[in-house]
Amino acid sequence: MTEYIVTGGRTLDGDVVDIEIRDGTIRRVVPAGEGDPAAFPADRRHDADGRLVTPPLIEPHVHLDATGTAGEPTWNESGTLAEGIEVWAAYKEDITVDDIVDRATRTVEWYAAHGVTRIRTHADTTEPSLTTVEALLELRDRVSDIVDLQVVAFPQDGIFTDPDHEDLLREAVSMGVDVIGAIPHNEHTREDGVKSVHTVCDLAERHDRPLDLHIDETDDPNSRFTEVLASEALKRGIGDRTTASHTTAMHSYNNAYADKLISLLAESGVSVVTNPPDNSVLQGSYDDYPRRRGHTRIDELRAADVTVGIGHDSVLDPWYHYGQADPLDAAFVLLHYAHMAGRDDVADLWEMLTEANAAVFGASGYGLREGTEGSLVVYDSPDAFNALRTRAPRTLVLRAGDAVARTEPARTTVQRDDGSRAVDFHR
Ligand code: FE2
Repeated sequence: MTEYIVTGGRTLDGDVVDIEIRDGTIRRVVPAGEGDPAAFPADRRHDADGRLVTPPLIEPHVHLDATGTAGEPTWNESGTLAEGIEVWAAYKEDITVDDIVDRATRTVEWYAAHGVTRIRTHADTTEPSLTTVEALLELRDRVSDIVDLQVVAFPQDGIFTDPDHEDLLREAVSMGVDVIGAIPHNEHTREDGVKSVHTVCDLAERHDRPLDLHIDETDDPNSRFTEVLASEALKRGIGDRTTASHTTAMHSYNNAYADKLISLLAESGVSVVTNPPDNSVLQGSYDDYPRRRGHTRIDELRAADVTVGIGHDSVLDPWYHYGQADPLDAAFVLLHYAHMAGRDDVADLWEMLTEANAAVFGASGYGLREGTEGSLVVYDSPDAFNALRTRAPRTLVLRAGDAVARTEPARTTVQRDDGSRAVDFHR
């Protein structure tokens, strides 16, 4: 039926509104009380009663081929990116399509339950049978009833570290991936890293695909491939379709170089995605005390008008053993370790979770306005601050006018001497 009415939803701006969806599109957004619930079937009405409502969430960066493998065959005990890659290399020796699809489907359903309707996943193209790519392309079709899935061809172990890897990447592109990736800091030499950026820029132009690179994901201040990507994107005019994921080395650059790079990123139109869950545990692993935090320069990038999205990166895999596929968890980690716990940061974090991630994904028709897609999330929370604070349950998730997930919030009681009392975690 693709129609729904949500009454009394509080937007990120604080307005309380009624939202009417017909034919999968938002037709009216009016002050609360001015909507017409009687014009909708009873099972197509939801009273938000003053709770937060946002556009749908987006996961701009996750590895669904590896999700759910944490501890298999071993745990990443050093906590380094390098050991994570070693553990994954051992796991993928015996990988199958069914195994990947089963694990990834579960994680996608977790995402949907948390209000996510779009996911960009990386698929490791250095797995020599390309089972990873085959499985995630199959998954793209299988989960199309709840999410739009983009698959990135991602050469985890490098493009020029093995004679077969460049051909595997090209084959993955011909299999129909949506986005092309690279990992220049994982090539053997600076020269191969630069060459890898040029190679994927050429591929992206030839196949008319966006780019999303794992880039400068290290604490090494001498890792400087983001400048190469931004410069190429600027020359080729493809910055608005290019994403620099991680860029954690920017944390360790000197200020003079970081300033130059951030200006170049802004001029090129390249977006950045920060991945707080993974990088909060991976970065600084080689440091004595004091240990660097190792996230990218979010405040300085945003001040320069660079789009900065928030990704989860890993859910239960060798790089991050935790996670439940909730973008609010990623934002919650970020606000701690990026010093974004001020009151003004709340709006910035939500802008990153919604509009910035939508821009990275290339989402069309995104937003909570008349004429945008009939998709939204209702939270069991009175406002944007408390939704982040409690990572509130998503009571209703709509996608193009249909409910794709619902959550009944838990009821908690405490037993006091004078009787049982319901606990309200809101203020
Ligand atoms: Fe990643």
